[in-house]
Amino acid sequence: MRVLVVGGGGREHAIVHACARARHDVLCTPGNPGIALMARVLDGAQDAATLAALAAAEAVDIVIVGPEAYLAAGVVDACRAAGIPAFGPTRDASRLEGDKAWSKAFMIRHGIPTAQHEVFSELDMALAHVSGLTPPIVVKDAGLKAGKGVTIAHSASEAGAALREIFTQVGAQAVIEDFMTGQEVTVLALCDGTRYALTPPSQDHKTIFAGDTGPMTGGIGVICPFPVDEPTMQVIRETIIEPTLAGMRAEGLEYRGVLYAGLMLTPSGPKVVEFNARFGDPEAEAVLPLLTSDLARHALDAALGHLDPSSVRFSAEASATIILAAPGYPSDPERGIPLTLPEAGAGQVIYHAGTRMDGDQLVSHGGRVLAVTATAPGLTRALGEAYALADRVGFPGAQLRRDIGGRIGLVPEATRSPV
Ligand code: GLY
Repeated sequence: MRVLVVGGGGREHAIVHACARARHDVLCTPGNPGIALMARVLDGAQDAATLAALAAAEAVDIVIVGPEAYLAAGVVDACRAAGIPAFGPTRDASRLEGDKAWSKAFMIRHGIPTAQHEVFSELDMALAHVSGLTPPIVVKDAGLKAGKGVTIAHSASEAGAALREIFTQVGAQAVIEDFMTGQEVTVLALCDGTRYALTPPSQDHKTIFAGDTGPMTGGIGVICPFPVDEPTMQVIRETIIEPTLAGMRAEGLEYRGVLYAGLMLTPSGPKVVEFNARFGDPEAEAVLPLLTSDLARHALDAALGHLDPSSVRFSAEASATIILAAPGYPSDPERGIPLTLPEAGAGQVIYHAGTRMDGDQLVSHGGRVLAVTATAPGLTRALGEAYALADRVGFPGAQLRRDIGGRIGLVPEATRSPV
């Protein structure tokens, strides 16, 4: 098959890698230098109509959309209108991620467990509300923020600062919700509107510093599979994934694509922290290397509404992804830092998240720069290999968290293998 992957970050590199492993002819736009090693990278405008025209001109069999902004811009709608199958929800269905106020209201309408919340369109009302709350207080920007629009405020004044920042934007809305305790877990469902297949659960780490401290990032390190027992998985399927797909169908928004359920395993059961409308980043970099079946085939089947969930298969191994971020990330990442990549060994891969070529030199070009992944027969070994590989990357000033997996007591297994 000929596959067009839309996007140019670490998640798209992982999608391209999965399609290339299954020996498809893979194209990608806008791509990045790592993607260029395994796919034909196409330049060009990134608006929905131009992308659909590009897919038609290249006679692709399936378009796989990575980032949420392209979904919100209607890339899937434009491709479908041009008769090209595209894997991802339509613009309207992607409101599940793009409009957090709508998404929370959807969950309430369909009885999907989530934190109690209030939505505010005016700063003064929001400030008055938080002044009466007991911290921690969760403040979310209702719009698309690349995973960074959430503040866990430990005082009313910190919540107030987050709200003031949100309301600097015209037409902003803020969602203020109860803080939930428990382990956080990401469950990704490949959906064809009715049927779905779950990937193994994973756990991302969102703050920049160890011990879950510091500002929020888009995600800085992942372990997969995160251990979730089968009864809990059953509850997740029955109370979250299935009612979401049924609810979307009932509202005329048949959901085809990846449903990202960001969950908290609270003492009173799994609850939705947020829905996203695409693969997680960096969850994709940890989850997709474990896929042993054909991603492009699943994407086409799902886009056409006939996914066979039993055909979606994963290795029994574990994986760990460590993000190497630029100095200054997340507020002000330094760009243009020269990077030297070591050779990756079997079961290891360095995904490019924010890089570009400066002449012959690979340099940093974003906040999250590289996603270093290792797969191995257990989480501690995967972590050990991922850290060992990350430590061999030449990246002056790189930031990385040393405690990925630490929330469940994992300690990276020391590895003697140099690659
Ligand atoms: N890793 C969080 C996200 O993709 O939104």
